[in-house]
Amino acid sequence: MITFYFITDPLIECDHEKVYYPSQDSFLLIEYFKKKINDNYFDGIELSEIENVLDLGTGTGIIAIFLQLIKSQNQNFNPRIFASDILEDAITCAKENEMLNNFNNEIIFLQSDLFKSFPDKLKSSFNIIIFNPPYLPSSEYIKNRKNKQLIDYSWDGGLKGFEILIQFLKEAKEFLNLGKEHYIYCLSSSRTIIEDLSKKIMKLGYNNEIIEKKHYFFEDIFLHRLKCLKS
Ligand SMILES: C[S@@+](CC[C@H](N)C(=O)[O-])C[C@H]1O[C@@H](n2cnc3c(N)ncnc32)[C@H](O)[C@@H]1O
Repeated sequence: MITFYFITDPLIECDHEKVYYPSQDSFLLIEYFKKKINDNYFDGIELSEIENVLDLGTGTGIIAIFLQLIKSQNQNFNPRIFASDILEDAITCAKENEMLNNFNNEIIFLQSDLFKSFPDKLKSSFNIIIFNPPYLPSSEYIKNRKNKQLIDYSWDGGLKGFEILIQFLKEAKEFLNLGKEHYIYCLSSSRTIIEDLSKKIMKLGYNNEIIEKKHYFFEDIFLHRLKCLKS
């Protein structure tokens, strides 16, 4: 069995100060996938079943490019890889990084607030959706200020820290391929009330497993794997 544990991380450069530079949370996802993708399976899902993968909130593009690197080294893994972000600068930066890693227009980029600008033809199409969302509660500073600055999109998850994630999960149902095996991977922080988040996820009809937990400086980061039980 071929695994991808020792695959090198993508080269990432970022001159755009409003774009989130990869951090421990980005690498928590990448390290998980390194352990869980092999020449036949993506975390238990047969590779041949996987047609479309989405890295939502791609930032510098690191996760989409990582998946593209695996695709280039594994002929059984042949999905279309999509990457989207609300910020134009993130899309520009991710496209530059795609080229830096010697891929030429392989990844399909979309600028969109969650799924709002996704074309209808992508409905019911994704087997895997990955979202490292903004997951911290809004600071007093942002609450008192009407306008969000562009860099705030990297971390400001709403008043409780998970409003963006919940909105994402509401919209994601329409875009998952529910007829096949599918997973959503997303992150949350102990700086939000995780029990409240879990209840909301359950109410939306998702099975929610916490599959990794890491402590960084002042918080724990949780990696969730979700499956949609009802549309
Ligand atoms: C924590 S950063 C993660 C970036 C990258 N995926 C990584 O792991 O390094 C969150 C990303 O989500 C994007 N984002 C925030 N709100 C969004 C929304 N409503 N729709 C799409 N992307 C959003 C931000 O611009 C930012 O690039």
